[in-house]
Amino acid sequence: MQNNLADLEKNTLDKLTSINNTQELSELRTQLLGRNGELTQILRSIGDLDANERKLAGQVSNALKKKLEQVLDQKNTDLVSAQLANLESLDVSLPGKYKPIGRLHPITQTLRHILDVLRRLGFTVVEGPEVELSAYNFDKLRIPENHPARDMWDTFWIDKEDESMLLRTHTSPMQIRYMETHEPPIRVAVPGRCYRYEATDMTHEWMLQQVELLAIDKGISLADLKGTLHEFARQIFGSDSEVMLRNSYFPFVEPGVELAVKFRGKWLEIMGAGMVHPEIIENAGYDSSVYTGFAAGMGIERIAMAVYEVDDIRHFYTNDLRFLSQF
Ligand code: DAH
Repeated sequence: MQNNLADLEKNTLDKLTSINNTQELSELRTQLLGRNGELTQILRSIGDLDANERKLAGQVSNALKKKLEQVLDQKNTDLVSAQLANLESLDVSLPGKYKPIGRLHPITQTLRHILDVLRRLGFTVVEGPEVELSAYNFDKLRIPENHPARDMWDTFWIDKEDESMLLRTHTSPMQIRYMETHEPPIRVAVPGRCYRYEATDMTHEWMLQQVELLAIDKGISLADLKGTLHEFARQIFGSDSEVMLRNSYFPFVEPGVELAVKFRGKWLEIMGAGMVHPEIIENAGYDSSVYTGFAAGMGIERIAMAVYEVDDIRHFYTNDLRFLSQF
């Protein structure tokens, strides 16, 4: 029996040296001292011994049990403090992994601001197709066959031979589409991309974004147009902004005007506008002696250039983060 105990002690101490986590340690403890543990079984068998052997065997085995328990406890303490020391070597003051946060493109920011202002002025936002029929882009807007805007230099035709479809050159075709499918009163704002076949320079891009306005109702006058645009300018350019309506010509409005805003001391033209031509109102199926309205079309890049003081429109679409991350 004493040999058994000596072997058990030696084996246990051997095993202990190779244990390096608390899970293994607790398995070893169970093997030894659990309900069916090796030492537990030895202790249990003491009862079967002769009375004279029993006493000594009891003392020796209990002493071993105590000793092993102490050794196991000590090992447990060592393992736990080693784990803690490991944890403490994690320096929480070190910088984390850098993940750049994206942001909205300056044109998107400007567009959203413009649409917020227009919604508050009572306009509903709707969108139209970017690939448009030339009937809507030109004819129904009274832009005749020989008008320079139709020139292949201005227009991306889907099929150059047939010229019936194109990438829209402005958002105005939605005036017609919306009037054809809705009854007055109408108050819509139409944002969208437009395309023009042109060489780019500081103020021209082959793709641009516009917002079209259309208001049709009984008794709308030029005063409503002016009031709406003035309020719009105050919201975008500041409450002290001045606006100027200048005579202009667009085939689909009569009279046609251009709106300039005085911003940082300079007059900037930011949109074309006018009273919707009576012929267009009649073509949409309304009586032009009852219904009148105004339309306007603005270039978003132009407005963004003024607001952010950007001198070259091409910056917006070259995807240079040094530029874009300033907004
Ligand atoms: N569609 C015109 C353009 O792209 C801008 C425009 C002018 C829109 C007058 C209008 C308007 O609604 O009334 O140049």
